[in-house]
Amino acid sequence: MSQPTIESILQEKRLFHPHSDFSQSAHISSLEDYQRIYEEAKADPQAFWAKLAETELDWFAPWDKVLDWQAPFAKWFVNGKINISYNCLDRHLNNWRKNKAALIWEGEPGDSRTLTYSQLYREVCQFANVLKQLGVKKGDRVGIYMPMIPEAAIAMLACARIGAPHSVVFGGFSAEALRDRLNDAAAKVVVTADGGWRKDAIVPLKEQVDKALADDAVPSVTDVLVVQRTKQKISMSVGRDHWWHDLQQGVSAHCPAEPMDSEDMLFVLYTSGSTGKPKGVVHTTGGYNLYSHITTKWIFDLKDTDVYWCTADVGWITGHSYIVYGPLSNGATTVMYEGAPRASNLGCFWDVIEKYGVNIFYTAPTAIRAFIKMGEHHPKSRNLSSLRLLGTVGEPINPEAWMWYHKIIGGERCPIVDTWWQTETGGIMITPLPGAIATKPGSATKPFPGIIADVVDLEGNTVPENEGGYLAIRHPWPGMMRTVYGDPERFRRTYWEHIPPQNGNYTYFAGDGARKDEDGYFWVMGRVDDVLNVSGHRLGTMEVESALVSHPAVAEAAVVGKPDDLKGEEVVAFVTLEGSFQPSEELSKELKKHVVSEIGAIARPGEIRFTDALPKTRSGKIMRRLLRNLAAGQEVSGDTSTLEDRSVLDKLREGA
Ligand code: PRX
Repeated sequence: MSQPTIESILQEKRLFHPHSDFSQSAHISSLEDYQRIYEEAKADPQAFWAKLAETELDWFAPWDKVLDWQAPFAKWFVNGKINISYNCLDRHLNNWRKNKAALIWEGEPGDSRTLTYSQLYREVCQFANVLKQLGVKKGDRVGIYMPMIPEAAIAMLACARIGAPHSVVFGGFSAEALRDRLNDAAAKVVVTADGGWRKDAIVPLKEQVDKALADDAVPSVTDVLVVQRTKQKISMSVGRDHWWHDLQQGVSAHCPAEPMDSEDMLFVLYTSGSTGKPKGVVHTTGGYNLYSHITTKWIFDLKDTDVYWCTADVGWITGHSYIVYGPLSNGATTVMYEGAPRASNLGCFWDVIEKYGVNIFYTAPTAIRAFIKMGEHHPKSRNLSSLRLLGTVGEPINPEAWMWYHKIIGGERCPIVDTWWQTETGGIMITPLPGAIATKPGSATKPFPGIIADVVDLEGNTVPENEGGYLAIRHPWPGMMRTVYGDPERFRRTYWEHIPPQNGNYTYFAGDGARKDEDGYFWVMGRVDDVLNVSGHRLGTMEVESALVSHPAVAEAAVVGKPDDLKGEEVVAFVTLEGSFQPSEELSKELKKHVVSEIGAIARPGEIRFTDALPKTRSGKIMRRLLRNLAAGQEVSGDTSTLEDRSVLDKLREGA
């Protein structure tokens, strides 16, 4: 099995039409429907979004302008008043959904819990009141560093309810990474757990929070709330730390949802870029609510009877938009799973599908490739007949993995939605609508209505059919990020100036390479910047380099990605050492450990290569292209004439 190459993808001609029985009952039920809606939206985007905002969401007060576009800064539904927690909870309580399962949770040790909409409402209100009692006010940021337990979703919705933007930090990040993010967001409160279950072991989350906050390193934090999950011993700092269950006691289960301005910040979520520290991607209330809602409804063809499961972690945007906000805003039943396939239970995903009769299943290509390795007998020995729709996200899916997913998991009857999007886009941008658009393995197919996607050169000109270029978006959309937290100039620079604006028309630069074929289908090829995609997780090469050079033995480091069958890409680090240090297996291990403690296990280099010098241009720029070739074991390709010292390259080759 291999990652998609341009050659293999260019040859991919298979076409899978939606089955007629699926199409008949789908929200968007034919190609003609899609085309009509797409053209309508293109002709008058504001009318399109306004109509959906009116019919799909509940507002406390109407907006007086649909879009205010001071490029590249957008405001959607200007002066409208809305609360996403109200749309996810309260509005489902005055109809039959009141006692419908909102959240079905399956814990890693096999425990489980179901919360109906009215139960979820009560828990969210109670926790919102707890936050208020601690002095959290509208606008205060709340850090959430949690395992995949219902309290993670409850905390998010409670923050949204009182207008305190949340900043969820993935539980796999280290104390260092947590500290940086809490500081950047200047969080007032941190919500965490004593620990979480991960592959039969405990992740010591509270211990990491203690490390992150030690020596008053995050002065903005006044209180830490701790959910008791694993019951291991932890230390509680008097005055600062409180048990969730203690504070919930006796607190009112009603808390009115704060009428938020449509453009009030809903959350900040950190993601990696090609330069500098991770940036805080800011999403606001009204536009995000609409975009996550309507994409969930149409792309997953959500019906009120469906059981829907997205396997992401709430620490990533996929968890925000497609475990919590999108499904709950639609009144769906969303499944949340704490675990991951592990040696002692390789079939656990299929058990969850069988146990709850999951109808819609959304996961990542890296997981699918891992399942292929584990063997067909795991899914084949479970009853997966409840499934009617499959989805993937996070990285390009290779056609072989797509076909396996289609045959072995989907029983050849389930459409697959390969969804392209980013933390920045808030929701899915390019995707099949499953009842309407025929799929091609490896292609995310067509843009969602209202999204004007294109493949362009660096001047912003559309490139010819089937030629590679940069993936770009031409018009603002409601779910788009609004700014980089605290750094609007970085927002402008990173996303809107790679392609120079023409006549005041700004084009969003996604950072991905892509090609559009003769049928208008998009084929996303992967990042074109110094961002790696390791097991669907986004990682900046510079972050890993900074982590490496913070070790006393390291003088210089250059990090590149190497194609990997399972993870998509693997981190390879080229390292030069300070004078007194010698390369050794031990030092290599120590450096890997150091990166894990600086960032988290997702950044662990697969390989450390010691070298005397790094290949640089005469102006001192590291030539990563050469390192990428070397890491992949390929011949060095392209121009090497700008190399300052050719012997460096020869030595690196010998070393390999
Ligand atoms: O390179 C693209 C890849 O993931 C990047 C976005 O990463 P992140 O912000 O962490 O969000 C991941 C979940 C939305 C993109 O720039 N990517 C995401 N989905 C796909 C994809 N690449 C190809 N095909 C996809 N379906």
